[in-house]
Amino acid sequence: MAITIKSAREIELMKEAGRILEIVHNELGKALHPGMSTLDIDRLGEEIIRSYGCIPSFLDYRGYPASICVSVNEEVVHGIPDKHRILRDGDIVSLDAGVIYKGYHSDAARTHGIGVISKEAEELIRVTRECFFEGIKYAKEGNYLFDISAAIDSHAVSHGFGVVRDLCGHGIGTALHEAPEIPNYKMNRRGVKLKAGMTLAIEPMINRGTWEVDWLDDEWTVVTRDRSLSAHYENTVLITKEEPVLLTLNQES
Ligand code: MF3
Ligand code: CO
Repeated sequence: MAITIKSAREIELMKEAGRILEIVHNELGKALHPGMSTLDIDRLGEEIIRSYGCIPSFLDYRGYPASICVSVNEEVVHGIPDKHRILRDGDIVSLDAGVIYKGYHSDAARTHGIGVISKEAEELIRVTRECFFEGIKYAKEGNYLFDISAAIDSHAVSHGFGVVRDLCGHGIGTALHEAPEIPNYKMNRRGVKLKAGMTLAIEPMINRGTWEVDWLDDEWTVVTRDRSLSAHYENTVLITKEEPVLLTLNQES
């Protein structure tokens, strides 16, 4: 599939999808507390998404059974909300969500600490976020896609962290996953040239230990092979001739 270039009208719709998703993340971030179940997070997230007249992108996507992916500690992504999975002080929790607004998707992820977390966990969350910002320094018309990948990789590796290779970022628009695939690791090619109007979900998934991951028997939950902590940070980004526009991040989050 070719990479789609969005029209001005489509960009307006994606901006709105992004604005709403940012609110969803901010509300969920505020609601997190020890004793809450991962299903509580999903229920609240779905309610907020629907209150804006949006559809949760992930619900029923390839059979995924919830609206918010909730991944705790060594879980990398795609954790399935569960009423018996209770957040405890010291946990870290990655929330990944997407909304569909008038047929257009936005996709974003954040990792939060619950209560007081270890220095190691703090550093992992901070560096994962920094990886995204290192990557988007290259997210501009005329640059090459895999320059973003290389920048993410090198920042994570400089901290001794593992970069997940089994899952990637992606183009996004009328579908949750569009071309191109966006690796978070260094490629030995530069990839496609970026053009204004491309919309990309850039999403580093970074582990304290090995980059290697396993899938649990539920067929969804991805965990680090060494069960070290993992963090995730994602925004939907619009490529322009100048600086990229972060569709899912206007305020600080
Ligand atoms: N951000 C994730 C991705 O781009 C979300 C998909 S989760 C799924 O793959 F549940 F919808 F599969
Ligand atoms: Co995504």
